[in-house]
Order: sequence, then C-alpha cells, then structure tokens
Amino acid sequence: MKLRTSLLAAATVLTLAACNQATEAPTETPAAAPAATAEAPAASAVDTAAAAPTDSSAAAPAAAGECAFNLEGNDAMQFNVKNIDVPKTCTEFTINLKHTGSASVEAMGHNVVIAKSADIMAIATDGASVKPNHIKEGDTRVIANSEMIGGGGSTSVKFDVSKIADGGYSFFCSFPGHAAMMQGTLTLK
Ligand code: CO
Repeated sequence: MKLRTSLLAAATVLTLAACNQATEAPTETPAAAPAATAEAPAASAVDTAAAAPTDSSAAAPAAAGECAFNLEGNDAMQFNVKNIDVPKTCTEFTINLKHTGSASVEAMGHNVVIAKSADIMAIATDGASVKPNHIKEGDTRVIANSEMIGGGGSTSVKFDVSKIADGGYSFFCSFPGHAAMMQGTLTLK
C-alpha cells in the first residue's frame, strides 16, 4: 500500500514535470512565431513594391478580365445587378448576358442595350414593335446592343469605353415593357 502510494506520487511528479515541459514549449513557439510572421509581410511588401512599377507601366491596356462583366437576366424580368463599374483603363468593355430562366424569347426576351440613361424609355418605345431585337432601325441613340435571347440563351455586347466617357450611361433591356425594371447604370471608375 505504501509502495503503491509512493509510485503514484512518483508518477504525479513525472506527470507534473511533463506538464511543465509541455507548457514551456508552447510559450517559446508563440514568441518565435510573431517574429517569423513579422518578417513575412515585410518581404511581401517589398515584392509588391517591386511589382507595382511593372503593373502601372502596363496600366494603359487593362487586363481582359477587368474589361468584361457577366450579367444575368431571369424569368422575373430582372437583371441581377443595378450597376456595372467600367474601368477607365479599358479601351473596350464587354457585357456578357446569360438568360437564367426558361421562358421563350417571345415571352421573356432579354437583350443588353447601351445608351444615355435619359434616352432609355424613348429607345424602348420606338423599338417596341420592331421584332425580334426591339430597336428601331438606325437608332443613333443606341451606343451598342446585343441580340435578344430567351431562357437558357446567352449573348454579349461590346462597346468603346470612350463613347461613355462623358457619363450618364446605362444598360437596359429593350423588350416591350422591360426597360423600366431591367436597367442599370454604367459607372466609369
Ligand atoms: Co428583358
């Protein structure tokens, strides 16, 4: 009985010793870790600074991915955004439209028309009876437009960014009755 107690005591001492070692070890690790992470940002900051001049010298033509936007239209007569930012560094900008619904082009057609925000309703009214694109022939108020698509379809429209440089432009759908709900601004950034 006495032996067992002393063994237990010995075991407890060993356990405590092990615990002390275990608790000491972690305190050293966190102390070393911040030093390592403090060095890491400094190194990456140098990298970024070194890369920056290369980026800014190449800033004139923006990367292709920045000069395009993937827009969606649905069966509830809605686009999924109310604004699209257009980088000033882009020469041309492309809006890709996907019709995520299943309604036919005759029932729930969508297109993307680029024009002055103030001209939207007049363009839509003048093109109401013009099938299938619903844009009056030779409408000079239209900067650019895609074709009209139905559910499951996709299309795209590309325009020169210089043509919207003076601001106040929008994208909209010219399908009869859609323009009021299906429109959004184009913001030069
Ligand atoms: Co539409």
